[in-house]
Amino acid sequence: MLPAMLDVEWVRAQFPALRRPAVFLDGPAGSQVPQSVADAVRGYLLESNANTHGRFATSLASDRRIAEARQAAADLVGAAEAREIAFGPNMTTLTFRLAAALARTWSPGDEVVVTRLDHDANVMPWVAAAAAAGATVRKAPIRAEDATLDVDALLALLSPRTRLVAVTAASNAVGSLVAIPPIAAAAHAAGAELFVDAVHFAPHGRIDVAALGCDYLACSAYKFFGPHVGLLWGRRARMEALPVDKVRPAGDEMPDRLETGTGNHEGIAGTAAAIEYLASLGRHAEPGAAGRREALDAAFRAIAAPERALAARLLAGIGRGYRVWGLRGPDMRAPTVAITHERRRPRELAAALAERGIHVWDGNNYALELSLALGREPDGFVRLGLLHYNTAAEVDRTLEALEAVGR
Ligand SMILES: Cc1ncc(COP(=O)(O)O)c(C=O)c1O
Repeated sequence: MLPAMLDVEWVRAQFPALRRPAVFLDGPAGSQVPQSVADAVRGYLLESNANTHGRFATSLASDRRIAEARQAAADLVGAAEAREIAFGPNMTTLTFRLAAALARTWSPGDEVVVTRLDHDANVMPWVAAAAAAGATVRKAPIRAEDATLDVDALLALLSPRTRLVAVTAASNAVGSLVAIPPIAAAAHAAGAELFVDAVHFAPHGRIDVAALGCDYLACSAYKFFGPHVGLLWGRRARMEALPVDKVRPAGDEMPDRLETGTGNHEGIAGTAAAIEYLASLGRHAEPGAAGRREALDAAFRAIAAPERALAARLLAGIGRGYRVWGLRGPDMRAPTVAITHERRRPRELAAALAERGIHVWDGNNYALELSLALGREPDGFVRLGLLHYNTAAEVDRTLEALEAVGR
């Protein structure tokens, strides 16, 4: 098979926002959306706006669109069944909900392992759940020299008392990837479950919950070119046994028992369109890719090399006065680069870049433990977040701007 090729012109033509003269490096806090996603949100509202499970046309259409989106989400994460997917407002809310339910299955003396690499949305839900259950929280450290997770130290925290390990697949602050399968194997050997935060990973790599070996996984559509919707996967038998808070008339099966209240239907329709966009990218790169799962495989094959090349170009070009926090090379990382300047504070730098039309975030980006561990509170970093729709010319423009504002 020929290697998958990414056609960046084709990609950029899908995203109306990219016609602006700005350089969007704010993707880790929310990517831009293709026209098809905006059309799907609008289309839902204009053609099938209704609550679910009614007998009339718009409600039936609404059910159909949500079912299609659930299947698309199952294809994105490699779920065995569509009903293993619960949609919600965002990853944070879904994770608090899952954690509160799991806490009811834990006892005093049980242990939970979180990491110092993670976004706080994969820390505090577990801290709160542990407090509710009388369980103890163990925090796995990072290796300060390259801002990667100290996996050996994490594995050493596991014991027969561990009930859950919560770990990210990729750091939203510094980009480091975490190899999940060995952690899953060790957690299971200790009798614990594994929750994976795939929010930052999702726009960069193919998710396959079976290959990862995790028990739960969450991500957010607005990071992978969709609207502001979160999604949670868990095996059906386990999800249907969870002691969740719910209203009595709501169904007791998945997904109804997890999806409390009325959902963001238009956002869910847009989520389906975002996944379909990725599949269409895969089919554009590899015209032979048949089904949606194969097309998504092709999409992430096509994205990998260009993203790596963009990260390498950016990392190689960051010059005097700047420090890169994290891996200096393009391997074992998402193309998300955290920098600081020897004189100018992150907030000032972000403002100076903004004046030049370069959109970046500054601060800890909610990776509070990491920022504390690296001694970067309260200022944090400037985060340069590349996605497959960015170009080498944009990287060069960013490097020139960094040079100018760092003088
Ligand atoms: C790695 C990571 N985890 C979790 C979150 C929280 O996601 P949400 O905004 O969907 O709650 C984010 C958001 O930036 C993130 O980057």
